[in-house]
Amino acid sequence: MRRKMVAGNWKMHGSLAANEVLLGDLTAASARLTCDVVVCVPFPYLAQAQRRLAGSAIGLGAQDCSVHEQGAYTGEVSVAMLHEFSCGHVIVGHSERRAYHGETDSAVAAKAQRVLASGMTPIVCVGETLQQRERDETEAVVGMQLDAILHLLGDRMHDLILAYEPVWAIGTGRTASPQQAQDVHAFIRQRAQRHCQGAARTRILYGGSVKSANAVELFAQPDIDGGLIGGASLNAVEFLAIADAASAAT
Ligand code: PGA
Repeated sequence: MRRKMVAGNWKMHGSLAANEVLLGDLTAASARLTCDVVVCVPFPYLAQAQRRLAGSAIGLGAQDCSVHEQGAYTGEVSVAMLHEFSCGHVIVGHSERRAYHGETDSAVAAKAQRVLASGMTPIVCVGETLQQRERDETEAVVGMQLDAILHLLGDRMHDLILAYEPVWAIGTGRTASPQQAQDVHAFIRQRAQRHCQGAARTRILYGGSVKSANAVELFAQPDIDGGLIGGASLNAVEFLAIADAASAAT
């Protein structure tokens, strides 16, 4: 049985004042949630979120990490630093990192390996663009992104979390239908299981315009184990309603 999970990806949003309110609202309601809940905040807010989430059931995560262990890499943040702030999860390979920062499949896999080695859990994102979907290349693209992970971490698949995020559904209000998402999730699980039987236990989150209005149907799919939530994670009421949907489906 895979426990449902909801991870908030704040992206480059927030302020000390706004975070105080949002984190306060989330922790106040967290006792009722029976799924795993994590918020992935911008680096400068890790200390604030660590303090505000202490003692609550909500976990803390980051949105990226360096592929390097330490050294002369200006602007980079190491997994050891994230660990010091009680991060349990790190998103790697988000499509915005792949598109705007040129992150390759192998760099994403190397980051996931670093996160695992530090005792944290990577949330590894994969997903196709609209053009690729229209050309019927979804499985080829997602398969290639996944293979880089399987190549390096094929025997650790049960220790990481995957997130299927079709690029055309991110921040666009255009969600994959539950069946479209389920089809790709099933494809991902089957491919991962060919390398590692433990992939039956790997949680695969769906991301891309998840809201309370579509969460119930998405989380009812057999291979959708929760959501990676962008825009809706900035609104406590909406994010908690999505977490309620995941709790009910658990
Ligand atoms: P969205 O973003 O929920 O705003 O579509 C999801 C993500 O990019 O992780």
